[in-house]
Amino acid sequence: MYSVYLQMNNVFITGATGLIGGAVLHDLLETPSMYKYEITAQIRTQNKADNKQNKTLLVHTSGTSILQYDLSSTNGPPTKCYGNSSNLDEIVKLPATQPHKPVDDVVLRIQAQSPELVRTAIICSSTIYGVSKGYDKINSVQIPWLVKSTIKAGQPVTVYSGDYNWLHVHVDDLAIIYHKITKSLLDGSSNAPSGDKGYYFAQAGNLPNWRQVAVYIVEQLVDKGLIFNKTIKELEPASLIDINEGFEFAPYFWGINSVCKAENAFKLSWQPAHISDEEFYKDIDQDIDYILSQK
Ligand SMILES: NC(=O)c1ccc[n+]([C@@H]2O[C@H](COP(=O)([O-])OP(=O)(O)OC[C@H]3O[C@@H](n4cnc5c(N)ncnc54)[C@H](OP(=O)(O)O)[C@@H]3O)[C@@H](O)[C@H]2O)c1
Repeated sequence: MYSVYLQMNNVFITGATGLIGGAVLHDLLETPSMYKYEITAQIRTQNKADNKQNKTLLVHTSGTSILQYDLSSTNGPPTKCYGNSSNLDEIVKLPATQPHKPVDDVVLRIQAQSPELVRTAIICSSTIYGVSKGYDKINSVQIPWLVKSTIKAGQPVTVYSGDYNWLHVHVDDLAIIYHKITKSLLDGSSNAPSGDKGYYFAQAGNLPNWRQVAVYIVEQLVDKGLIFNKTIKELEPASLIDINEGFEFAPYFWGINSVCKAENAFKLSWQPAHISDEEFYKDIDQDIDYILSQK
């Protein structure tokens, strides 16, 4: 088993033109110790040769929205924090009705069926903020989409009461998790679990609940003279989908709880640099400017 780790020399990255994938690819390309590995980035406009001879590391991007999928007006603040190590059995067995989980299950099967060929790791990020150092899409989604929804509604909007929490991570810190996992698995470190033990949550700071975020956004828009109504509009999921042009996942961005601990990443000595609420809020200001610049 250990010798398989040492023989691995391929890294395959999906979503390389995206916010996360771009940041990760940038980080790997800037790291001299990674030069000895063959790094393949999937880009949809380009054909790829298929090389089945070498051992491969598959790092898959999932999300911490796997942790809850029931939208309900009776749900309140989170009652549970999931650790990707301490709650592992529960996480692996989450049903395929959870977002991301059907693809996670495929990834889990890949290593289970071909452990001699592939090592897999699944990275689940919480709310990502910050501007990616990547190459195409560099802004995240949850906050920018909430800014857009607020502007469209002309007042702060929440899913039901909005009293739901996620945690947050800066995209630069997230890229470092990918780096550490990739390096550790390629080097055969026993600290880097893979396969059905290889779930990695990315979380560095506590997100204020989405109601508070909605209020913060509207305060900035009021200051800019763009909105005058500060009264929170508590919406049913269907109304949020309408505001977001039929995007069915929109209510889940702000209407579920997603609370976790980055246990496996911390075991790899991951030390996030961006953990303060101040930075998180400052980045909301940046997202507001970004959305306004798109108009
Ligand atoms: N941003 C967040 O806060 C966050 C948090 C947790 C989890 N996630 C998850 O992380 C993943 C990546 O998020 P992101 O924010 O980096 O997204 P993004 O910026 O929209 O990038 C998506 C990437 O995936 C590629 N892609 C899309 N559809 C594809 C397909 N059918 N086949 C192959 N490639 C495809 C895109 O390629 P093109 O450039 O060709 O379109 C792009 O490179 C998503 O699954 C998302 O749900 C995101």
